[in-house]
Amino acid sequence: MVTSNPALTQLGGNRLAGVQTLANQLRADGLPLYDFAIGDPDEPTPEVIRTALVEALGPVSRYPTAAGQPALRTAVAGWFSRRHGVDVDPDTEVIPTSGSKEAIFHLPLAVLDPQGPRRHVLWGEPGYPTYASGTVFAGGVSDPVTLTPEAGWRLSLSQLPPERLQRACIAWLNHPHNPTGAIADLDWYREQLAVARAHDLLVVSDECYQEIWFDEPAPSLLEACDGDRTGVLAVVSLSKRSGMTGYRSGAIVGDPELIARLKVLRPHVGTASPDFVQAAAIAAWNDQSHVDERREVFRAKRAVLLDHLDRHGIEVSGSEATFYLWLRAPGGDDAAYAEALLHERIVTSPGRAFGPGGAGWLRLALVPTVEGCRAAAAAWAAAIEGGRLPQA
Ligand SMILES: Cc1ncc(COP(=O)(O)O)c(C=O)c1O
Repeated sequence: MVTSNPALTQLGGNRLAGVQTLANQLRADGLPLYDFAIGDPDEPTPEVIRTALVEALGPVSRYPTAAGQPALRTAVAGWFSRRHGVDVDPDTEVIPTSGSKEAIFHLPLAVLDPQGPRRHVLWGEPGYPTYASGTVFAGGVSDPVTLTPEAGWRLSLSQLPPERLQRACIAWLNHPHNPTGAIADLDWYREQLAVARAHDLLVVSDECYQEIWFDEPAPSLLEACDGDRTGVLAVVSLSKRSGMTGYRSGAIVGDPELIARLKVLRPHVGTASPDFVQAAAIAAWNDQSHVDERREVFRAKRAVLLDHLDRHGIEVSGSEATFYLWLRAPGGDDAAYAEALLHERIVTSPGRAFGPGGAGWLRLALVPTVEGCRAAAAAWAAAIEGGRLPQA
């Protein structure tokens, strides 16, 4: 029998796969299904981006480089400067990636010494599971910190005992946050940075939802650095910003010493974006109008669902940004409520899919169209009024 990597057994498969299988079964009968489960909205990728990709498709195909095209690094740096007022050197402080998931997964390989005393990786839970999987496959120990509504679903490194900080090599931050939609301000970033620096901890901010805000633009960890980026990285992505989940394009930005290390590591991995995707990414980073338009679409969907949840007294927590709404499951059992909603042809993600700290909560991803959100809200309301769903 072929041996197996114990990390595979430890981590298992996609925790949302069960929900998707059920949703697909329901979809097979051809009746309307309102799918709020997976964070992959239906809005088309803007034409300016698609055109850039098609025009870059030449007759000859060559290996892309891990360092990426200079024009792409410049486009990322230009966006950072316009959006965050942070000037980064495109040659030494930016490396493109194939989306942020693989960047998150592979990053510990450049930092974590599996034999060393600092093998732990801190991240907030409920949260995006790739912080844990990248850690475990790199031979480290995932050390999730439970987030709470009382603390605004924000990690507080200063609340952790020093031993826990000293055995860790990376602390992941993620705001706007998946799954809760919680935001963080610059003071919070400064506080985390100060604690991380006091303990020689690399702090990495997963900023893939940076552009999906509704009240105030979400800040970047890099804004909190005041020029000194030692031990600091931000991971950005075009997936959510520009409707490019299928293209796979993002970047890691920050500490030049770490970016140099990633330039050594990443050619081993083979995840450089194809040049035509890089061309599309340049067009995407250089255009802001489509991002502002997308935000308004999510704002409209959000308003429909918030109104419905408010009418039925369902508590919404976090949910200030991202295209997620995070609600307390009426009756207290997220899995049972998500299943009852499935009978109404509404697909949601039970909060426990994002870790034990998510139990009792549900995540709604604003995937259906505004009309779809209205129809789903009506079906949901009818089920509450008909006694098929528990009251909040
Ligand atoms: C918090 C968070 N980080 C990273 C990702 C990965 O996104 P992508 O690889 O498409 O950039 C996701 C995807 O849903 C996410 O929710």
